[in-house]
Amino acid sequence: MSGVKVIGTGYSLPVKVVTNDDLSKVVDTNDEWIYSRTGIKSRHIISGDEAVHTLAVSSAEKAIKNAYENDSDFSKDKIIAVYVATMTSSYVFPSTACIVQKELELPESIKAFDISAACTGFVYALQTAADTLQTHVGDEGYVLVIGSECMSRTLNFSDRSSCVLFGDGAGSVIIKKDDSESSVFMQLSGTEGNTEVLHCGTYNGGDGYLHMDGGKVYKFAITSLNGAIKKLLENSGSTMEDIDYVVCHQANSRIIDSVKKKYPGHEHKFFMNMETCANTSAASVSIAMADMYEKGLLKSGMKIITVAFGAGLSWNAVLMTV
Ligand code: ACO
Repeated sequence: MSGVKVIGTGYSLPVKVVTNDDLSKVVDTNDEWIYSRTGIKSRHIISGDEAVHTLAVSSAEKAIKNAYENDSDFSKDKIIAVYVATMTSSYVFPSTACIVQKELELPESIKAFDISAACTGFVYALQTAADTLQTHVGDEGYVLVIGSECMSRTLNFSDRSSCVLFGDGAGSVIIKKDDSESSVFMQLSGTEGNTEVLHCGTYNGGDGYLHMDGGKVYKFAITSLNGAIKKLLENSGSTMEDIDYVVCHQANSRIIDSVKKKYPGHEHKFFMNMETCANTSAASVSIAMADMYEKGLLKSGMKIITVAFGAGLSWNAVLMTV
């Protein structure tokens, strides 16, 4: 399979910032407990008219502007697909992807749909985008891949064990096909059907709030991240020496700290920004990637691993040249 090239990124966070101290006025918690267990200091939470589709659109606008700057061949009329990873869509239907198509006046020949795979969603969307480019016939095409989430809509703000962990936001990445020999795109994924440890909904008397067994999710996260990174490296004949960055789902710094200990000398490659964003679920990897480009960390030709885990229980990992 050919690789892909990232030509534009952007992210968008709600205006309102909620700190750990703010939350301590709502539930019985404190900054020391939250920060020491999660690495989170604050999160952005929607207010006013902000919603999954508005954040998706504004992050995509930034990515499109960025793509025009980076690639003289790019035009938004050449976007052949828009995929939005989300589980907190503004509407049951139409999809957020269709709203993005309308708001950004993207071509009507476009594929546009949402991908619901909880926190694993963006990495699945990235993989779906790479598959789309692989099978596309005709002129050069671009795919807009978005992760957008308003987790605050699912939180019970009297449950201190979960409401302190999440935030809202969106990230967008625009990719095109790269046929050069040095460009790679490989993926691995898995699902352990489990509706007990992490779920949210109203089916069968459910209250519509997120419910989580934190300890079990923690163990699954570490096992799946470790397993995915190890297998991707083995299957691609690579070592951590060949990788520039690992962009993990930004759920919790303790989880990432535990994974990076397996790669002494490479700890600096594990990016983290949950301190100010918290866990934005399907948006977290996309926001992290856009944040890394903005900070000048990610550069064309680098090799990265993106890896996420979440409800399902599911995991997905991609090794790619950006
Ligand atoms: N503030 C203060 N005390 C709290 C809080 C809080 N916000 N939440 C729980 N506690 C208390 C508990 O009640 C418990 O008290 P007790 O001993 O008197 O019963 C004590 O703190 C310890 O609770 P634990 O749940 O054992 O705390 P732990 O150290 O395991 O940390 C945490 C909890 C942070 C949730 C951890 O289990 C974790 O990180 N799990 C992974 C969660 C995750 O990544 N979820 C998202 C992934 S999936 C997705 O993204 C949708």
